[in-house]
Amino acid sequence: MTASKRLVLSSDHAAIDLRLAVGKHAETLGWEVIDIGPTTPESTHYPKHGQAAAGKVASGECALGIVLCGTGQGIMMAANKVAGIRCGVCSDIFSAKMIRQHNDANMLALGARVIGERLALEIVEAFLTAEFEGGRHATRVAMIEGD
Ligand code: RB5
Repeated sequence: MTASKRLVLSSDHAAIDLRLAVGKHAETLGWEVIDIGPTTPESTHYPKHGQAAAGKVASGECALGIVLCGTGQGIMMAANKVAGIRCGVCSDIFSAKMIRQHNDANMLALGARVIGERLALEIVEAFLTAEFEGGRHATRVAMIEGD
């Protein structure tokens, strides 16, 4: 499968169960899932997991990434420190669609202690199926990147 349908997933210890559910759902949507998150529940540090996933998107190995922690906020901040990453935390379906369509987000962050699994999977589906609209939005995204 090409990188265009390859999704990287990671999380810290707070979001392992939701991450596994997200991975299964993404596969049913036709994505090849590269899950690099921890598999045991020991406490770990979300920045390293966010940055590792972001590296796979920034390098082009994966087209998109989804990262999870308790709130989604910390791992989102870590991912956004990697050049070329645009990651948004979403707790609603509309925002997940819009960060793809308008912001060309290449990563989504979810908070496992914020939303339930059913909503999370709908958010994931919105993120993975929406497409960047380009045009005036491309001008603005270039501005984010400092172009
Ligand atoms: C871990 O307890 C928690 O701080 C982490 O999962 C996340 O919510 C940080 O943003």
